[in-house]
Amino acid sequence: GSVALIGAPVDGGAGLSGCIMGPAALRVAGLATSLADLGVEVRDLGDVTPDQVSLKLAGATHHENEVAGFARALNRQGYEALKSGATPIFMGGDHSLSMGSVTGVAKYAAEQGKKLHVLWLDAHPDYNTPDTSTSGNMHGMSAALFCGEPGFDGVLDEPIHPVDPKNYHVFGARSIDEDEGTLLLKRGVNVMDMRRIDERGVVALINGVLDAVRADDAMFHVSLDVDFLDPQFAPGVGTTVPGGATYREAHLAMEMICDSGLMSSMDLVELNPYLDDRGKSARMLVALTESGFGRRVFDRPTSTG
Ligand code: ARG
Ligand code: MN
Ligand code: MN
Ligand code: MN
Repeated sequence: GSVALIGAPVDGGAGLSGCIMGPAALRVAGLATSLADLGVEVRDLGDVTPDQVSLKLAGATHHENEVAGFARALNRQGYEALKSGATPIFMGGDHSLSMGSVTGVAKYAAEQGKKLHVLWLDAHPDYNTPDTSTSGNMHGMSAALFCGEPGFDGVLDEPIHPVDPKNYHVFGARSIDEDEGTLLLKRGVNVMDMRRIDERGVVALINGVLDAVRADDAMFHVSLDVDFLDPQFAPGVGTTVPGGATYREAHLAMEMICDSGLMSSMDLVELNPYLDDRGKSARMLVALTESGFGRRVFDRPTSTG
């Protein structure tokens, strides 16, 4: 099928500025040509123009108008891309963009009578609400919004189709705030932290997610945060946390996702080119996307199913 690249230079959701340059860096790193070389038809739709929004969220929440403006525009673009038969790839931009990407995908899924599962490859579950967040940074709240937690009225301009928290799968977690953790437990989110990955391995855990998606005949959104990776492989992010996924674990996960044929949309988020090391993290995201769309070292029958 074809891929639609959607640039989302939202910057105000993160604590540090710089993600505004993310879509440009992904283009410079060759995302479109890399996919085209794999035989994927690619259309770059350019960067979205955020809506003008005026609202105030609770607590010390920062930049809610910028975040909401991008979320509304991305919701529409993602929905339209799926409707046109394309697989949208949202190029961030900070992780608050998923308030738009995931809700747009969820709207399309609901129209098709389908459920939506979300795989969140991230050091953080991003499940704070304006009330639980201690930072006020909205990139730490995106999943809470699309799972329908309270406190986000007015961010989107229409009611959302919430993702069932049980169909929200976090992979790679190693930094969870206290109240956030309480809420994740209460909702039954599938949190696969680094200890669990060490104990059970990528293959068993990712197969568990893919089986759940298949059992529901659901749509499947994959959201890849740069800080999923260990900082040694991807330093270009404002929220590095030690002990992350290795180069090999990350590629294996993406290869398995590709083999499943289930992924219907994707985010590439939190790339901060201002903090990167000579394009290393941008190239890492491009390489992982290639693995997600069929790049192989050597062709062989699938061995991880
Ligand atoms: N949990 C922290 C917060 O709420 C960190 C969130 C980091 N999120 C991210 N997308 N990098 O501020
Ligand atoms: Mn504010
Ligand atoms: Mn994140
Ligand atoms: Mn993160």
